Amino acid sequence: MKLLVTGGCGFIGSNFILYLFKKYPKYKIINIDSLTYAGNNLKDVHNTKTYQFVKGDICDRDLIRDLVAKSDIVVNFAAESHVDRSIEDSSNSVRTNIVGTHVLLDAVRYYQKKIHHISTDEVFGELGSSGFFDEETPYNPRSPYSASKAGADHLVRAYHNTYGLPITITHCSNNYGPFQHPEKIIPKFIISLLNDQKVQLYGDGSNIRDWIHVSDHCKALDLVIHNGKDGESYCIGGECEKTNKQITKDILRLMDKNDSYIEYVEDRKGHDKRYAIDNTKIRKLGWKPGYIWEKGLSDTIQWYIEKKDWWENLIFK
Ligand SMILES: NC(=O)c1ccc[n+]([C@@H]2O[C@H](COP(=O)([O-])OP(=O)(O)OC[C@H]3O[C@@H](n4cnc5c(N)ncnc54)[C@H](O)[C@@H]3O)[C@@H](O)[C@H]2O)c1
Repeated sequence: MKLLVTGGCGFIGSNFILYLFKKYPKYKIINIDSLTYAGNNLKDVHNTKTYQFVKGDICDRDLIRDLVAKSDIVVNFAAESHVDRSIEDSSNSVRTNIVGTHVLLDAVRYYQKKIHHISTDEVFGELGSSGFFDEETPYNPRSPYSASKAGADHLVRAYHNTYGLPITITHCSNNYGPFQHPEKIIPKFIISLLNDQKVQLYGDGSNIRDWIHVSDHCKALDLVIHNGKDGESYCIGGECEKTNKQITKDILRLMDKNDSYIEYVEDRKGHDKRYAIDNTKIRKLGWKPGYIWEKGLSDTIQWYIEKKDWWENLIFK
């Protein structure tokens, strides 16, 4: 199989490429990434007969056409993925997440290839204290980030309905694990504590996310890419709901710090209350979450302890 992976130097894309190297050493992978502030991974992986890195933008039509022509399937991770940055200025989110996906779709359509699009559970909006998102949940994005991801999803589905393009979409919950940029809550808090600084918790810390270890997400993507039904979407979640305060307390405990290291700060604008995923459909495909939270979190803390070289130049980017 020949895969064009977009955004493969980011958090999840790089974990996915490393997963493919191990499980499918014969697959040919092209990784296109424009190396934004968030593209910092796989820098020490050299081109081989089966792996090629291309520094480029998914909005570049000519380049994307060339690369899609050489692939069987596009796996689209490339995105502006940070909600806070999209609240500051949403131009990049709209450009990469919507326009970039559109460019990929046109090329995939031209060469009659396939695309798997990585979406998010955030396109569904927020939940109250009960209920779950599933594949039938209506879209209700509430941040510029999630609105741009929703726009991309609609285009992907429209290309399936209008042109019969072979597509699949996954909506995953919040990922954690190695190689996540220090701007995201778990690495940010681990790094603050490693530097003996306080962690800044939004609002009262009661917002709930459904956490999944990135390696479980990669396994789910593998399954959907190989066995997913054309035109279908799949929700992926770790069945691990935690408030931000619980996460903070777990990190503090595992790093031998007490609650005095918590500083409550003004809440994020429009901060979604709760996300939670009903996994039934992807479980039927043969997937289940493997990582236990406690082990996943302590492995992640250990990774950041050992990889100071990786993160120390990124914290001010
Ligand atoms: N991180 C999560 O918890 C999570 C959860 C659900 C879904 N997702 C989705 O998964 C995907 C990957 O997320 P992530 O956390 O790895 O993001 P990330 O920000 O770590 O990585 C994004 C990558 O895309 C690259 N990129 C950005 N704009 C580009 C462009 N125009 N052309 C080419 N490359 C470009 C960046 O350089 C970076 O390497 C995103 O689509 C995101 O919406 C993430």
